[in-house]
Amino acid sequence: MDLAGARTLLDRALDDARAAIPAAADLDALDALERRLTGKRSPAAAVNEAIKGLEPADRPVAGQAVGAYRAAVLELLEARRTELAAARAGSRLEQERLDLTRGGRGRRRGHLHLVTQVRQELEDVFVGLGFQVAEGPEVETDWYNFEALNMPAHHPARSMWDTLYVRLGGPEEVLLRTHTSPVQIRVMEGRRPPIYTVMPGRCYRRDTLDARHSPVFHQIEGLVVDRGITFGDLAGTIEAFTRAYFGEGHTARLRPSFFPFTEPSAEFEVTCIFCEGNGCSVCSGTGWIELGGCGMVDPNVFLAVGYDPEEVSGFAFGFGLERMAQMRYGIDHIKTYFENDVRFLAQF
Ligand code: PHE
Repeated sequence: MDLAGARTLLDRALDDARAAIPAAADLDALDALERRLTGKRSPAAAVNEAIKGLEPADRPVAGQAVGAYRAAVLELLEARRTELAAARAGSRLEQERLDLTRGGRGRRRGHLHLVTQVRQELEDVFVGLGFQVAEGPEVETDWYNFEALNMPAHHPARSMWDTLYVRLGGPEEVLLRTHTSPVQIRVMEGRRPPIYTVMPGRCYRRDTLDARHSPVFHQIEGLVVDRGITFGDLAGTIEAFTRAYFGEGHTARLRPSFFPFTEPSAEFEVTCIFCEGNGCSVCSGTGWIELGGCGMVDPNVFLAVGYDPEEVSGFAFGFGLERMAQMRYGIDHIKTYFENDVRFLAQF
């Protein structure tokens, strides 16, 4: 073999390597190729073997040619090894993959309780009318629930609210608030007019459960105090939110009534949607459902919080949230709100 023969041999072997190595199917095939192209019986070994028989000047040239060939082959082998190793790791991951998407039953998310939805919706309506939202405690003192609302001790009007007392303080001093009106007092105590605030919250009464009454229920209270507020503002506000909540075309009426903390006072009623005004068990045969009370803030209430009734006037209202939703959705018994039957709750 002369130098030219050695070169031809190595060039062919390198062509062979360039074709075969990238096509090797797996690491075993690569190992076999490595033996064939660089091992004891490879062209490289054959050239090495022949070097001693070459012209002395050609020997280093042939040696370098073998070195270059080896380096090129090893580079090709290394590249293919890396490729195959990556593919093998990938397919192993694929094989061992756990299909968690089918592992469990789908869980449905819950949603807000209807009463909470109603409350938020009404808050939105009132915020749209320019009101702020405030809250107060459910456990109240006699002062906030009665006394400051123009009902001194032993006032006969206290019997309008069957009260649940808490064993705290003196006898009948601490109670579960029977309405959201005590929050009016707290709001007024804390700041000066003008006041445009609604106060939603839970209330308690020693009531027997029937279609419309529950010992635990929710109200939303409204209070406006400013200069020159009139009964017309009250009626207009009630009209505005009745339409916003029940939709256009729904009728409501104000009937003269009595509350110690408002004068004059009125009851706010809507036509019973169950009998369309003909009288049924839900509306106790009257055709109307009472939603709440309202009226012009009594001067004595202003005096209790240090406002001057000569300077400011205002109106207040308080409505039951459960009843409002009963009227809008046709829920015939108030107990369905807290029976926790998902077939009912899921409907809203
Ligand atoms: N607090 C009264 C009730 O629960 C309702 C009401 C609120 C009446 C505000 C007048 C003014 O019955």
